[in-house]
Amino acid sequence: MNSQELQAALGDLPLSGLRFFESLGSTNDEALKWASQAAGDFSLVIADEQTRGRGRLGRKWFTPPQTALAFSLILRPTVAENNYPARVTGLGSLALVDAVSKLGVRAQIKWPNDVLINGKKTAGILVESVWSGESLDACILGMGVNVLTSSVPPADQLSFPATSLENELGRPPDRLELLHDTLSSLLAWRSRLGSEEFIKSWAASLAFQGRQIQLIRENEPPLNGELLGLESDGSLRIMVNDNLLTVKIGEIHLRPSV
Ligand code: BTN
Repeated sequence: MNSQELQAALGDLPLSGLRFFESLGSTNDEALKWASQAAGDFSLVIADEQTRGRGRLGRKWFTPPQTALAFSLILRPTVAENNYPARVTGLGSLALVDAVSKLGVRAQIKWPNDVLINGKKTAGILVESVWSGESLDACILGMGVNVLTSSVPPADQLSFPATSLENELGRPPDRLELLHDTLSSLLAWRSRLGSEEFIKSWAASLAFQGRQIQLIRENEPPLNGELLGLESDGSLRIMVNDNLLTVKIGEIHLRPSV
């Protein structure tokens, strides 16, 4: 992957800007910096290797050279999009589910931010917001996809079973094509961000629907319940001891109960 190949592969997409790095600490850090300067809406930062890739809950994200997709999009939310900040995580995961389905594989979303294939984590999403007073100035949508087998971290570093697209497809997919298809699907879903169809499709791709799950919360005991679906703001609906609970996207993660 290099700048020329990226420009050729993404030439039909309305990117405001593109910054490619052979090696970078974190594309989200670079995007946050660029967003605080003059980056336009739909600017892309992409790296062939990350040395300080970040995940949710302060975790590290592994991006060895030339094996994965690691990129961050800078979105400048419109006034209408400002009403749906929590849907941006769904936007990234839905786009990836679509792009992966073009490869002939069904992916599912482990709420809020993981994309699974055959029950194993294949991608993670990290959304970070830049506020200017009360208004949302930019959303940084960071996505990391395990493309080749060698992008999967060693088993002793995993908090959830992981895989790669190469493992699940039985062949290595083309990274540029996957990137193109993800961004193109993301644009299509973005134009429907406020729609009922958006939530329905997000919910339809949720992993563990109707199953018992465990919600892991910081400094609180885990909650066990049945995963029912999504609220319109992207919160998770679960049934805990006959009580309907909604859980907002935040410092929480879930796993299936064994
Ligand atoms: C998670 O699963 O906890 C989220 C992982 C997000 C990783 C991506 S890779 C591109 C972008 N840059 C980062 O430092 N993190 C995100």
